[in-house]
Amino acid sequence: MSCSWMILVSAVLVSVASVAQADVLEHTFSVATLSLPRICEPGNTSVTAVNGRVPGPKVEAREGDTVVIHVINDSPYNVTVHWHGVFQRGTPWADGPAMVTQCPIRPGRRYTYRFTVAGQEGTLWWHAHSSYMRATVYGALVIRPRRGAVDYPFRKPDGEKTVLLGEWWNGDTVALESRSFSTGVPMPNADAYTINGMPGDLYHCPERTNRIAKFKVRRDKTYLLRIINAALNTAFFFKVAGHTFTVVAADASYMDPYETDVIVIAPGQTIDALMTTDASPGRYHMAISSYQSAIPFPPMPAGFNGNASTAVVEYVDAAATANAASPVLPVMPVPNDTDTAHGFYTSLKALDRPGRRTVPLTVDTRMLVTVGLGFSSCQPIQTQCNRSAPVVLANMNNVSFALPATVSMLEAHYRNTPDGVYTRDFPDQPPLVFDYTSRGLLGNTPLASTGSPSTKVKTLRYNATVEMVLQNTALVGLESHPMHLHGFNFFVVAQGFGNYDGVEDGAGKLNLVNPQERNKGAEVAVPTGGWAVIRFVANNPGMWAMHCHLDSHFGIGLAMVFEVESGPTAETAVPPPPPDLPQC
Ligand code: C2O
Repeated sequence: MSCSWMILVSAVLVSVASVAQADVLEHTFSVATLSLPRICEPGNTSVTAVNGRVPGPKVEAREGDTVVIHVINDSPYNVTVHWHGVFQRGTPWADGPAMVTQCPIRPGRRYTYRFTVAGQEGTLWWHAHSSYMRATVYGALVIRPRRGAVDYPFRKPDGEKTVLLGEWWNGDTVALESRSFSTGVPMPNADAYTINGMPGDLYHCPERTNRIAKFKVRRDKTYLLRIINAALNTAFFFKVAGHTFTVVAADASYMDPYETDVIVIAPGQTIDALMTTDASPGRYHMAISSYQSAIPFPPMPAGFNGNASTAVVEYVDAAATANAASPVLPVMPVPNDTDTAHGFYTSLKALDRPGRRTVPLTVDTRMLVTVGLGFSSCQPIQTQCNRSAPVVLANMNNVSFALPATVSMLEAHYRNTPDGVYTRDFPDQPPLVFDYTSRGLLGNTPLASTGSPSTKVKTLRYNATVEMVLQNTALVGLESHPMHLHGFNFFVVAQGFGNYDGVEDGAGKLNLVNPQERNKGAEVAVPTGGWAVIRFVANNPGMWAMHCHLDSHFGIGLAMVFEVESGPTAETAVPPPPPDLPQC
């Protein structure tokens, strides 16, 4: 073991024993609804944002620090904030998903989120976790190695840039979403993709609204790009003309360095990549374009401009730069280039580091869970729904998930009063075994029929070791689902196309040596028309949502919740709720 690794390992041990070096970082997030210019449209659109900005403030911490965020809700809507990827060990009341771990913060009220970022470092992010509000309520959460610890397990970069990818609607997304819910008609597609909140120069809009993000760089330096896909529903290809990347981390887990000129990133994911500015001095486009995994491939929305968004990487020390002609545009993959997407995901391998968490080798809880879309009929509360046509609902094991309305699931768990809030019968297996990914099943209405949404949990004993096979279904359309698990990282030990076969694909074929450790699997977890096998240890008591990070699927039920029982000691029990926990 090299000396630097030993320092790292002892730093991790110290972090368990004492918090002497750790800081307390305090921020105030004031959430308000304001007018911001529309993209390519005259007038302003009503936008809910933190401290008046989209993206909102960047939270920067060191491993071991305590983060304290006072959220003041001055908007007319209910708000919660989720710290995406933070384990929240011992602080389940700070996780944030509305009605899972807390009631929303009502207009005019406030709530303080208090948690420690221990045992994890890298790029994470925060976002609203109530309705479509996260379209504009989001920002970066960067966790650097603790002071005195070894820096990164890769060459120290000369600088770093945060790159937040997003989607923008010319309209109030909360209002758009409630209309979509009551009519049963899906939300319209976004009007633009954005990089750091700006649409770039491919939308051919008036100067005032057609703004572009600029990244100023110096020549022959190495920059760490912290790329976050904050889009609601779109996976992206990401390129910078004339430059290549070395991917060093994903979802705040270090990866074996991987060289590539294209990055693929699903909603919710983060990628850390080094980029060396070794091109001839000038201006280069950074570009994102959508990866459309769905089969059949949906037509691109009319009027959708270019299917790509841009930013500019500008060499500042090049005299000629300022008056250079338009920046060079990278050549993007076609939208349904699943080979490139799958190739990228399967190339990432966990970096072998002493002291890192390892995959559980034995398993005591096994689940096979289908994920996909199905049909149902309008719910009574969908007042403007066309009652003669089926509505599309998403489900896991044919259970479409509904959030409870009167008390949060964590509160019901803590008080041991689940009645009327949730039931403990989330199935370990699909109710029906069929040829899940057969193209012949597209539109098979009887098989695809999903009952009324319900709130079911899978209860896990403290420290249970779980293996879950996530199996995509082809009933309404094949599509990859970026599955996100709160409260834990999981290991992706295998993935493939078609139907998972426990004999063919199981046991001997699992990667138990250096699987990716992620807080979601994205395309890795459930490829289009395929499956993934994940493992995790249920060592974090509380109520933890698992859901598709496409908001358009989460909103129609592609979710479930793990109820993890408390352990034997006070430290392994769910603590009492904080005094300011919002009430419904
Ligand atoms: Cu990033 Cu449940 O979410």
